[in-house]
Amino acid sequence: MRKISIAIDGHSSTGKSTLARQLAKSLGYVYIDSGAMYRAVTLFALRNGLMNDSLDRDGLVSRLGELELGFRLNEENGRSEIQLNGENVEKEIRTIEVSGHVSEVAAVPEVREKLVRLQREMGADRGVVMDGRDIGTVVLPDAELKLFMTAAPEIRAARRYKELLGRGEEVSYQEVLSNVRHRDHLDSNREVSPLKQAADAILFDNSDMGLSEQYERVLSLAKRVVENKK
Ligand code: CDP
Repeated sequence: MRKISIAIDGHSSTGKSTLARQLAKSLGYVYIDSGAMYRAVTLFALRNGLMNDSLDRDGLVSRLGELELGFRLNEENGRSEIQLNGENVEKEIRTIEVSGHVSEVAAVPEVREKLVRLQREMGADRGVVMDGRDIGTVVLPDAELKLFMTAAPEIRAARRYKELLGRGEEVSYQEVLSNVRHRDHLDSNREVSPLKQAADAILFDNSDMGLSEQYERVLSLAKRVVENKK
């Protein structure tokens, strides 16, 4: 059977990664979390004193060559997890501190250039579900199925707040809501590859849609596209 590429873009905390991971599993495809890569670069900047009041852009750009990023399967949970210079940083990249700086790092053209190149390599053989902000528009513009996910900011913030509390982070709902709004703004207004719906993407507003309903709808859509490609 011919394999397709699936691009899932959209606003922060819209459940893109949960959906992408489930879809990849059902179809036997590879899941690539492009946001994890931007988060790992942000963690590198934080650890190396490149993020003080604001980002030391030149410092980061001059050290991009030192950065090795990839995904490796974690046998314990069956998930592919992000590796930064050989270290599994899957947990460290999910903190509110990293979330607070990632959109600034993701706006640096040299960072995007490096990560987009890697992402295209990872998607070259199709059979991939990739989620992010610019997958349908820039990384995999010829993906056979493109989705664009959104939901009301308050709903997204409540979902992320619950997730962070569950992981033991001390945050307030207000802090999470302002992070969600701030990233929406930066991601949608940056010069290079801003977040926008691709002309051929299908819009999903999941403010009032349950995760399982959304999953069923997208899975049947994906199966139809695969059938048509045979
Ligand atoms: O999971 P969440 O919605 O919080 O975000 P993410 O997918 O982990 O992405 C974190 C941040 O990385 C986004 O807010 C963007 O600033 C950036 N990003 C991007 O610019 N391009 C992508 N393809 C993926 C993420």
